This record gives sequence, C-alpha cells and structure tokens, in this order.
Amino acid sequence: MAELTAPAIDIPSLDQELAGQSPQQILDRALSLYDNLAISFSGAEDVVLIDMAHRLGKPFQVFTLDTGRLHAETYQLLDQVRKRYNIDIEVMFPDAAAVEALVKEKGFFSFLEDGHKECCGIRKVAPLRRKLATLDAWVTGQRKDQNPATRDSVPIAQLDGAFSGPGRQLVKFNPLANWSSAEVWMYIRAYEVPYNALHERGFISIGCEPCTRPVLPNQHEREGRWWWEDATKKECGLHAVNLQAQ
Ligand code: ADX
Ligand code: SF4
Repeated sequence: MAELTAPAIDIPSLDQELAGQSPQQILDRALSLYDNLAISFSGAEDVVLIDMAHRLGKPFQVFTLDTGRLHAETYQLLDQVRKRYNIDIEVMFPDAAAVEALVKEKGFFSFLEDGHKECCGIRKVAPLRRKLATLDAWVTGQRKDQNPATRDSVPIAQLDGAFSGPGRQLVKFNPLANWSSAEVWMYIRAYEVPYNALHERGFISIGCEPCTRPVLPNQHEREGRWWWEDATKKECGLHAVNLQAQ
C-alpha cells in the first residue's frame, strides 16, 4: 500500500474557509491540498464533480463500488463517463466469499426481511473501507437536502471518523453539500453532462436495483430508496460519519 502522507491541516478551519465557496472552488482546493484523493462515483452529483474536476485540469482519481446488484443503466453510465472524460474508473467488488456465505444462508433478498445493513455492509461498506485505506481524502456528491433526517448538517470538509484508522486521518469533502437538486440538474443540462437513463423514468436517487424505485411527483427523492424502512435508517454505512455527528 502507498505510504499515506496527508499534510497536517486544521479541517474545521478549512471547512469554515470553504463554506461560502462554489463547488468548483472547493474541488480545486481539495485537489491542490491532497494528491492522494479520489471522487466516489455512483450517480448524477458525482458526474457533475467529475465534469468540474475535468475542467479544472488537475489530475484526479475516480472509484465506484460495484455491489453486483446495480441496474444495467448504471453500468452503461459508468462506461459512458469513462469514455467521455477519458478516465480510468477503479471498480471495487465485494469479497466473493462473504457474498457467497450471505446468499447461501439467507438468499438474494434478505434485506427485505431483516434490513439492508448486512447486505450493504458486505457489498458496499467493506469494499469502500478497503479503498479508503489507500487514500488521504475522498470526495462525495452528498447534498444536505438529500435526506433531512441524516444529511442536514453535512459539512463541506470533515474528518471521516468512520473510516480513519489508528494514527491515520481520512478527510472527506462534500463540495455539493449546499447545492439543491435543481442546481445539480441545471449544471447537467448546461454542460451536457452524461446521466443515468433511469432519470428519464422517474428515478431520482439511484442505488442498487432491488432497493431503488421511482418516485411520484412531490415525493422526496429518498423515498425511492429502501422504502420499506424508516427514513432515519436510510444510510447504508458509506456515510456513517453523518450518524456519528447526530
Ligand atoms: S447511499 O449511501 O445512500 O448509497 P447516495 O446514493 O445518496 O448514497 O450517494 C451519495 C454519495 O455517496 C454519492 O454522491 C457518492 O459519492 C457516494 N456513493 C454512493 N453509492 C456509491 C457507489 N456505489 N460507489 C461509489 N460511491 C458511491
Ligand atoms: Fe444490498 Fe440493497 Fe444495500 Fe445494494 S442497497 S448492497 S442490494 S441491501
């Protein structure tokens, strides 16, 4: 594993400094501060960040978590983005033995019966942990208004206590924290940014195929995710630091 050489930076002060800045300025600062930083990519917000990083002209890494349960349209988007920006996308897969054991014991839809934590833990969180152990900082497309129950106070820059290790601090940037969905989609249309074809069929927030559905007009986007569970549980563990902060 590469040696981690994060500069000593006061993250709360950095967060304050970046609070009033545009996502482009925030991304620019993050890319200047950390060589060993990656954008985590799954959906619309993340492609906006990739587009912004591309326009900044600084090198950046991108990774995605392939849970094995994504929609065909999501795989098509991944390839479209790879080609459009001429970038490598590192695809993290879950541990095969862990998936085999889960499916053998509980079948393919255990999350409908006993909650999504176990399946997300194996298919998303463990691969994310593996990737984050190689980084000094990561960038996500989280927005405050994505989930009033859990993302209302997402900062621009934070220490990610959920994935930092002993003697090793991981920094998390959320450059779009203060943007609305409307602003994201204005950017997508203005710059002709590629998006998931499922958005044309009523999907807003898109995760794994069995745990995502379209929403009706005026339904909150998060209602299309894990709809059989309580709103406060609609975090799969990638952003566990949001729950620590509550
Ligand atoms: S989730 O935790 O509920 O699944 P959500 O879909 O809202 O997250 O996405 C928020 C951010 O988490 C994305 O902008 C992206 O940075 C990261 N993320 C979510 N899913 C993935 C994934 N499969 N691969 C990589 N990053 C992801
Ligand atoms: Fe499993 Fe659903 Fe979580 Fe995907 S979102 S990892 S299918 S529980």
